[in-house]
Formats: sequence, structure tokens, C-alpha cells
Amino acid sequence: IERTFSMIKPDATKRNLTGKIVDRLESAGLRVVAQKRIWMSRREAEGFYAVHKERPFFDELCEFMSSGPTVVQVLEGENAIAKNREVMGATNPAEAAEGTIRKDFAESIGENSVHGSDGPDTAKEEIAYFFAATEVVG
Ligand code: GTP
Ligand code: MG
Repeated sequence: IERTFSMIKPDATKRNLTGKIVDRLESAGLRVVAQKRIWMSRREAEGFYAVHKERPFFDELCEFMSSGPTVVQVLEGENAIAKNREVMGATNPAEAAEGTIRKDFAESIGENSVHGSDGPDTAKEEIAYFFAATEVVG
């Protein structure tokens, strides 16, 4: 059994899509074992996305991610990392497959409704960035 880190981004919380997105995750067999609604500071967003700091969209990304509430989650399941990314769809909603969260809800490549860890090491780091071990209840 594997765990991954997931976020429902400000464009989605603003449009009241939290429940619809959680339903997509749960319906795919992912279990929400930790969840909280937070409003990231600019510095928290910069720390979270530090790996992207040389990318041209870094400022825009951190501005967006600190522009409103986000729901951070730990998801658990068989192949949770890959399964979550499958349910999310491609980064750019214009390229996302039918039936994926980003195809159905995302507004643009930047405001793309959800985040999911891209591998086991980042999953561990990202979970630890937002959650204490005692907050994750499997
Ligand atoms: P995450 O699960 O959010 O990490 O998405 P990803 O792994 O599909 O994409 P990636 O890690 O390459 O990029 C991280 C985030 O940066 C994306 O989810 C987008 O929100 C944002 N992003 C990526 N490319 C662009 C871009 O060209 N322009 C803008 N404005 N944002 C981008
Ligand atoms: Mg990524």
C-alpha cells in the first residue's frame, strides 16, 4: 500500500469543487487518510515549489498558489502515486484525457485544479511539508 500527497488548488476551492474532486479520488479507490484546508503564504508556496524555482512560470505559480485556500491531502491505496496522476490527467487541461479531473475542471495550464506527487521520494517530502505523522490516520 502506497501514500501520495495531493492538493486541491485555489481555482478549484474558489469554484466550490472540493467535494466533486474528493469524489473522483475516492471513486478511483484512493482513501483520504489526512486532509485540511489551508491558505499558503507566498513563502510556503515558494518552499513547496522550490524544485521549479528556475522555471519561467515560478512567480506566477507561487502567486496563484497563495491567492486563496488550498485543500492538502494524503491519499492511500495500491499504486496511489500513479493512480492519482492518472485521475488528475495531464498538466495542461487541453491535453488531458476525457474523464480526468483536469479535463473536466481545470481552467488553464497554471490554474489546473489539482496537484499530485510525481514519485515516492517527492511524496514523502511533500507529505512531511504539510502534515505531522500524527495527522495521518490510515
Ligand atoms: P503538479 O502535480 O502540480 O506538480 O503538476 P505536474 O506534475 O503535472 O506539473 P509540473 O510539476 O511540471 O508543474 C507544476 C505546476 O506548475 C503545474 O501543475 C502548473 O500549475 C504549473 N505550471 C506548469 N507549467 C506551467 C506553465 O507553462 N505556465 C504556468 N503558468 N504554470 C505552469
Ligand atoms: Mg509536478
